[in-house]
Amino acid sequence: MDDSLFLSMNIYLQRFLNKFDKPGKALDLGAGDFFDVACLKQLGWICDGVDLNTGVDLNKLYIGNKQYDLVFSNYVIQRLDSKDVLVSSAYRNLKEGGWFFLHTFDKSDKSAKGFDKDCIVNLLKDGGLIDVKAKIFSFYDNEHQHWHKVIEVIGRKPSKLPS
Ligand SMILES: C[S@@+](CC[C@H](N)C(=O)[O-])C[C@H]1O[C@@H](n2cnc3c(N)ncnc32)[C@H](O)[C@@H]1O
Repeated sequence: MDDSLFLSMNIYLQRFLNKFDKPGKALDLGAGDFFDVACLKQLGWICDGVDLNTGVDLNKLYIGNKQYDLVFSNYVIQRLDSKDVLVSSAYRNLKEGGWFFLHTFDKSDKSAKGFDKDCIVNLLKDGGLIDVKAKIFSFYDNEHQHWHKVIEVIGRKPSKLPS
């Protein structure tokens, strides 16, 4: 594997993959240049991505043709008018027990329009996700040479209750 591919992969997403015993299926909502999609594929995942630049408007509910172990969406939700719809798209595409991983900017970020942490946590809970956890951290954007305050929020689709 070419390690240089990983120089720009979202390192926090890469670490999150440790939650999984083995590579599974992943979906990137708002994949941009599809770099993270390519990196996950290199790691053995089956990985799909959608974006406005591939004709998918995430202000509308997106339902693909697979059920995923992991749905992730980085630095997209703050651009959407219908933020709850993104969470619904994540929920609808997840397998039972699958994880949603999201990065966006905190409201204290000086160079991007950010979110209130409780607001985004509630968005995931209202969307039916459980075990929702969020953290805020500082991240240096090498390309634009400034710091960001990032919120990472994760949540899981409930497993089917035994009948
Ligand atoms: C800052 S980029 C992030 C790309 C990638 N997720 C990453 O982490 O590098 C934001 C992406 O959101 C996409 N986007 C913005 N509005 C969208 C919409 N309504 N529907 C789908 N994608 C959208 C843009 O096309 C862009 O690729």
